[in-house]
Amino acid sequence: MNIIVITGASSGIGVEFALQLDNVFQNIDEIWMIARRKKEMLEIAQHLEHTTRVLDMDVTKEEQIERLKKLLADEKPVIRMLVNCAGYGILGDFSASNIHEELGMIEVNCKALTQMTHLCLPYMKKNSRIIQLASSAAFLPQPNFAVYAATKAYVYSFSRALNQELRHKKIYVTAVCPGPVDTPFFDIAEKTGSSLAVKKLTLVRADQVVEKAIEDSYYKRERSVYGKWIKSFEILAKMIPHGILLKGMRFLK
Ligand SMILES: NC(=O)c1ccc[n+]([C@@H]2O[C@H](COP(=O)([O-])OP(=O)(O)OC[C@H]3O[C@@H](n4cnc5c(N)ncnc54)[C@H](OP(=O)(O)O)[C@@H]3O)[C@@H](O)[C@H]2O)c1
Repeated sequence: MNIIVITGASSGIGVEFALQLDNVFQNIDEIWMIARRKKEMLEIAQHLEHTTRVLDMDVTKEEQIERLKKLLADEKPVIRMLVNCAGYGILGDFSASNIHEELGMIEVNCKALTQMTHLCLPYMKKNSRIIQLASSAAFLPQPNFAVYAATKAYVYSFSRALNQELRHKKIYVTAVCPGPVDTPFFDIAEKTGSSLAVKKLTLVRADQVVEKAIEDSYYKRERSVYGKWIKSFEILAKMIPHGILLKGMRFLK
């Protein structure tokens, strides 16, 4: 049985991956959707052509990961693609933040993503793909989004290194690095702080980011960066010393 596994499949970018991959892949038997909100995933599943399995689970809970581990061991599918979208960000001053929410970002964005990848890899074969949701926040430290940006720098670095490690198995990893995307992400992110005005100006649609990510993954590209603003930001972050950029960001607040 050939399957696609998508985490964060109840909302935003994860839903868009489910919808687009449903059209793109021919030789897939099932799409496995993972998130905590079952009702939302069941609604999306109704719009998909492929057989869908809705797995309501919290990716940070060890016993729920064990449930998935057992399911994989029982069914022994071939995972043709893993898309790790589960994640969240909280804006605001770190010293005034809720430490549980800050640590939660590390749990979901880094630990769970790493664990999911490790769990799925034994079921992947030649030409399987892994798509990891990093962010353009990986390119430069982000004051007032400090922990989130650090988690995404982790995802970016981990994905690029893993892509090299897996070359001999012909399994390809793509780190997706979007700037602001119009999803419910900001409902959570802006609970405790507001985004930079420049972020709102560069907002793009999820379907554009996902279409580019699927194309980049198909062509075995290590990174997927959508849009001229974010491509320019990436170049800037490579060319200009970060100390100067960080000083400049103080004035954009
Ligand atoms: N939107 C942006 O501007 C943007 C930009 C760059 C990168 N990204 C990244 O893209 C990814 C998707 O974000 P999005 O914009 O689609 O946000 P979103 O609409 O808020 O979706 C986040 C998804 O993560 C899932 N999730 C969160 N915590 C989870 C947990 N403990 N266990 C299982 N699932 C969990 C949520 O499902 P449940 O709540 O149902 O569990 C939801 O499906 C994230 O990694 C985010 O950091 C987003």
